[in-house]
Amino acid sequence: MTRIVAVSGSRSADSTTRAALRVALDAAADAGAETDLIDLATVDLPLYHPDEGAQGDSEALKRRIREADGVLAGTPVYRGSYSSTFKNFHDFCGSDEYANTAVGLLATAGGGSYGGTLEHLRSTFRNVHAWTVPHEVGIQGASSKVETGATDPGAGPRITDEDLRRRTERLGRVVVEHAERVRE
Ligand SMILES: Cc1cc2nc3c(=O)[nH]c(=O)nc-3n(C[C@H](O)[C@H](O)[C@H](O)COP(=O)(O)O)c2cc1C
Repeated sequence: MTRIVAVSGSRSADSTTRAALRVALDAAADAGAETDLIDLATVDLPLYHPDEGAQGDSEALKRRIREADGVLAGTPVYRGSYSSTFKNFHDFCGSDEYANTAVGLLATAGGGSYGGTLEHLRSTFRNVHAWTVPHEVGIQGASSKVETGATDPGAGPRITDEDLRRRTERLGRVVVEHAERVRE
C-alpha cells in the first residue's frame, strides 16, 4: 500500500500548518494511501550537530521518511522562508531518505506572501533528490481560513475557504498518484 507521511514544521500547539496538512492527509487516505503525521512540535529532535550520530528521535524519524512513498511537507512562513524547525528536520534527512519519494509542498502565512517559502522548500527538496510535484498550496491569512479544531475538537481540522480546501485536498491526491509512479 502507498504510504504518505506529512511533516509539520510548526511548534505551535494550535498550528494551522498541521491542520491544513491533516486535510491533505485525509484526501490521501481517501485515495487509498496509508497515512502518518510527523508533528515536529512533539518530537525530540535537538539542533542538528554534524559531530553527533543519532540524536533524540532522529533515527526513528528518518526511518519513517525512508519508508514513505510520498511526503506532504508543511511549514509556516517565517521571515519569507520556511521555519527553523523544518530546516532542522531537513538537516537530518538526505537523499537516503528522500530518493524515489514524491513530495508535495504547503505553506501557511500570516500575511500574503508564501512564494519564497515554497521556492526555498522546492530547491532544498531537489537537493535531496526528492520528486516535488508541481501542484502546491500557499495559504494567506491562515488563521482566518484554517480551523484547527482546538476550540471544537469534535469538528476536527477544516479549511473554510472552498478553493483552498479543494486545492489542499488535491495536493494529497496528487502526491499519492506521483508516489505510485516514482516508487521503485
Ligand atoms: C517568527 C515568525 C516569523 C513570521 N514571518 C512571517 C512572514 O514573513 N510572512 C508572513 O506572512 N507571516 C509570517 N509569520 C506568520 C506565520 O507565517 C503564520 O502565523 C502561520 O500561519 C503560522 O503557522 P502555524 O499556525 O502552523 O504556526 C511569522 C510568524 C513568526 C512566529
